[in-house]
Amino acid sequence: MRYLENVPSEKPLSRIGLGTWQFGSKEWGYGDDFAAEAARIVVRAVELGISVVDTAEAYGFGASERIVGDALREEGLREKVYVATKIFPFFPIAPVVVNRGKASAGRLGVERIDLYQVHQPNPLIKDGQTMPGMRQLQDEGLVADVGVSNYSLARWKDAERQLGSPVLSNQVEFSLAHMDPLDDLVPYAASQHRVVIAWSPLGQGFLSGRYDADNRPANGVRNMNPLFLPESFESARGLLDTLREVAGNHGVTMSQTALAWLLHQPNVIAIPGASSVEQLERNAAAAEIDLADDEFAELTTQARAFHRPARTDALKASLARRLHR
Ligand SMILES: NC(=O)c1ccc[n+]([C@@H]2O[C@H](COP(=O)([O-])OP(=O)(O)OC[C@H]3O[C@@H](n4cnc5c(N)ncnc54)[C@H](OP(=O)(O)O)[C@@H]3O)[C@@H](O)[C@H]2O)c1
Repeated sequence: MRYLENVPSEKPLSRIGLGTWQFGSKEWGYGDDFAAEAARIVVRAVELGISVVDTAEAYGFGASERIVGDALREEGLREKVYVATKIFPFFPIAPVVVNRGKASAGRLGVERIDLYQVHQPNPLIKDGQTMPGMRQLQDEGLVADVGVSNYSLARWKDAERQLGSPVLSNQVEFSLAHMDPLDDLVPYAASQHRVVIAWSPLGQGFLSGRYDADNRPANGVRNMNPLFLPESFESARGLLDTLREVAGNHGVTMSQTALAWLLHQPNVIAIPGASSVEQLERNAAAAEIDLADDEFAELTTQARAFHRPARTDALKASLARRLHR
């Protein structure tokens, strides 16, 4: 495993982390039995040197936090893990932030949350009302680092002003299928010792090569993801072909190559979710892949040429499928 070297955190931050939205969340469709596999995924992740484990109070309405917390009760695991969770920002004024942080720590069974993130920017309640709650949690020792998620660069900087100290990370959608953070968030993180945490780093499996227009994943989350529309696969043909070719050069999978593309950039951590221990093992191994600069450049060029359909197109397609059932 590789770790970020230039970021001031109490624990080492692995460049591949573990996303746990899948845990206890009906919308991924992995079934009730998945909780046992989820626990094995956490334990194996730590064995492989993954320290960053990301969850949220919103995932499965707390179920993901509970599954992660239960897994971390195994002896010796907790201290190796940098536990990251998120507040769902419904009315995130300071006292609410403090109460919800305590509730998350309770579900996780931890005395200290290593990274507490605001899941989404609230359009009405500004960070001047939210960050004092985060500061109180830090002062009380319940939270080590504060992060945000889905924030623009301007709002990230404003959150730092309101907190009065660094907001260590911004967790955003970032992959070969969604490259916006490349231009502003990554340079900021690299120059300021901050972290960009890439969510959906595999485009929810779109970049794995496992799916195509005739073989789409069937579950609630991905039915609503425009990446899995036929026109998306058509537009991504050059990108997916290049991904396959570069993967072949290294004798690895397309998913691993998509992760290696992210890690080629400074101060980026990728947090892929996994539906099995085997996937988790392959994702962890991606940390060791070094892409050549020309491979990175070609993948970036192909990714810039890809046009992802609008989310409303996925909504329309999903409705049409229901009507024709
Ligand atoms: N902050 C936010 O707003 C936000 C939003 C979304 C996600 N997140 C976080 O980011 C994490 C990751 O994002 P995500 O789960 O949406 O998408 P992702 O990591 O891009 O995709 C995960 C899915 O890809 C497939 N997969 C994983 N590893 C694979 C491998 N090695 N080979 C082939 N397929 C593989 C699995 O699905 P199948 O096996 O079923 O194909 C898995 O469920 C989440 O778990 C969550 O913690 C945060």
